[in-house]
Amino acid sequence: MTEQPDNQSASGDKPRRRKRYPGSHPRRFEQRYKELAGNPEMIKHVRGRRRTPAGSHVPVLLREVIDTLSPQPGQIAADCTLGYGGHATALAKAVQPGGRVIGFDVDARELERTKARMEALHLPLSVHHANFAGIAKVMAQEGLDGYDVILADLGVSSMQIDDPSRGMSYKHDDVPLDMRMDSRRPRTAADLLNSLSQEELSQALWELSDEPDHEKIAQWIVSQRAVTPITTTGQLKGLIFAAKGTVEKLWKKQSAYQDAHPAMRTFQALRILVNDELAALGQLLRLAPQCLRPGGRIGIISFHSGEDRLVKKAFRSGYDQGIYEAYSGKVIRPSGREVHQNPRSSSAKLRWARKASAEG
Ligand SMILES: C[S@@+](CC[C@H](N)C(=O)[O-])C[C@H]1O[C@@H](n2cnc3c(N)ncnc32)[C@H](O)[C@@H]1O
Repeated sequence: MTEQPDNQSASGDKPRRRKRYPGSHPRRFEQRYKELAGNPEMIKHVRGRRRTPAGSHVPVLLREVIDTLSPQPGQIAADCTLGYGGHATALAKAVQPGGRVIGFDVDARELERTKARMEALHLPLSVHHANFAGIAKVMAQEGLDGYDVILADLGVSSMQIDDPSRGMSYKHDDVPLDMRMDSRRPRTAADLLNSLSQEELSQALWELSDEPDHEKIAQWIVSQRAVTPITTTGQLKGLIFAAKGTVEKLWKKQSAYQDAHPAMRTFQALRILVNDELAALGQLLRLAPQCLRPGGRIGIISFHSGEDRLVKKAFRSGYDQGIYEAYSGKVIRPSGREVHQNPRSSSAKLRWARKASAEG
């Protein structure tokens, strides 16, 4: 009898069995990541349960991005936020033959993995470990006179949120509050929590995530750090619950998981602050007109009102000045079906603009 791999039945026609772990399922992120790599059946199964498989990311508004940005064979597309490469893969297929995608990401760890995955598919891609605020510099390095398409899908990927070692999610307890997408950045979330003034914290929570209890949370942070530095996700979560006058167990019982998690807004605001996300977006919006070829299209997917306001204002003012010949009057949102299949798409908003075809 031939020996079977340990996850396959002797007859070969039964479904593959999962590898056994202490307990019955892989618990740690790295184990889940490893298990899913190269196992399309398992990935399909996880997606069917409306979950994002560990170590992957489901691209949001994919059809809408391709419809509005209309990449054509032979064109150059900049994917400013490569992530898992979902949008980049669709863009790369659309610009063939003869075209190319220039991919940016500040996250070196994920960039290498995405590059390898896309190279295996023989897709034309040049990657840059760079902030998209440097889009003009990369254009010069690549010897280009402009891009036909620019896409930015803002925020963080599912890989980053799900990886506990990054400290980005309130779902993980007691891991260091890092939150940097780019490990070259000087300050972590813990650094900011322990150094910003109460007013600065309160303002950030309000402006970057519309947190209604911004004043109380900032007050709790400042009084707690006078006793002991705030360094972990669990500590911060505890403070947020205290500021809101409840505890996690009670909240879970009362909300039945229907409401947004009370810590969601604070974690989002801190992440945006740590990575200076609004400044990078502002710079991209300023440089886009000079980086687009005549008739070129730009699309931005944002996930909160502060970002969306900047995008809307930049496109409208570019249109008023005659830089853009058209722009999306109305924001494009995911369909109910998309939100059902990928709940993480629920707050996504796409806006686009088209550069005037002829100068002047
Ligand atoms: C929402 S994910 C993009 C997912 C991607 N569209 C896909 O389909 O897989 C955002 C990605 O952008 C990166 N990112 C965020 N801000 C950036 C910036 N200013 N410059 C370059 N990359 C950035 C993050 O590291 C993350 O990998």
